[in-house]
Amino acid sequence: MKVIIPAAGVGTRLRPHTHSAPKALLYVAGKPILAHIVDQVVQLNPSEVTIIVGFLGSQIVDFVKREYDLNVRFVEQKELLGLGYAILLGIEPGETEDLLVILGDTIVETDWQGLLGRNQNVLGVKEVDEPQRFGIVEVKGTRITSIVEKPENPKSNLAVVGVYYIKDTMALRNALEEIYNNGIRTKGEIQVTDAIQLLLDNGVELHAVSIDGWYDCGRRETMLQTNRHLLANHTDKRENSDHPESVLIPPVYVAPDAVIERSIIGPDTSVAARCVIRNSIIRDSIISAGAHVEDARLMSSLIGNNAVVNGSFKILNVGDSSEISY
Ligand code: G1P
Repeated sequence: MKVIIPAAGVGTRLRPHTHSAPKALLYVAGKPILAHIVDQVVQLNPSEVTIIVGFLGSQIVDFVKREYDLNVRFVEQKELLGLGYAILLGIEPGETEDLLVILGDTIVETDWQGLLGRNQNVLGVKEVDEPQRFGIVEVKGTRITSIVEKPENPKSNLAVVGVYYIKDTMALRNALEEIYNNGIRTKGEIQVTDAIQLLLDNGVELHAVSIDGWYDCGRRETMLQTNRHLLANHTDKRENSDHPESVLIPPVYVAPDAVIERSIIGPDTSVAARCVIRNSIIRDSIISAGAHVEDARLMSSLIGNNAVVNGSFKILNVGDSSEISY
């Protein structure tokens, strides 16, 4: 099996953080979103992982090469024409292996072996409250009968979560190519959703598999929700390392090399590598790598890489390398 992770998007809804880092490298629960995905992918033993990079893509290339010993191929998406185009770039002509696509901003928890072991084309789906914001499928039993990208009048509330397992990879590639060559756009973009509808029109069977653990990282609020969830459910968190005159309240993650002095950290807080935090009280927040926080009281805050926060603030959304003093 091959894996494609499209990670070329600009991530406008997460500015200012995405001015200086690609969305896939934003921190949640102590490591970048992409690391959560790749850590799962590695367990599936794929023959190759292709990461589609674009905006600030060299940061992704550097990160993956530094952190993983993986058979990985990077494909640059120069034109942001849509997800369908990204996937088309990632599938090599004549591909014979099956394919798993996981979107680079999608953290899911599911029984991967069960999903892949079905010997069927599978889309991960979840019931949502706002179907207009997603690709929406209609199903008979588990079999998908139609799929529409962000419909104005949705026929169901079953959303595509960004996990696509395709047995016949060339059929998908051909459908994407047909969409691309015929200039078919939906919402201005070349959509994988339209290619999948084409597969359905051609009689290809696709099934919907429910994925309950789908964690959105699209906005500050949902990043913090995802942070809370991952911290509460995972074991690679440190609660009682050696931090002078400090209290760490679980669920919390503090990177082993972070310096914490005279502070109260947690609950629901992750502190990434190389951070320095002194004289501060921080809860429900994400502190990204290399940030320095002193004399601050923070809640529900996202602090970017290498940012400096000095002083008494409550809710902050501070981009990389910014400095806030009081
Ligand atoms: C993409 C897909 C959409 C899917 C969504 C899941 O949309 O096009 O079908 O439901 O991801 O997150 P985007 O969020 O990139 O607009």
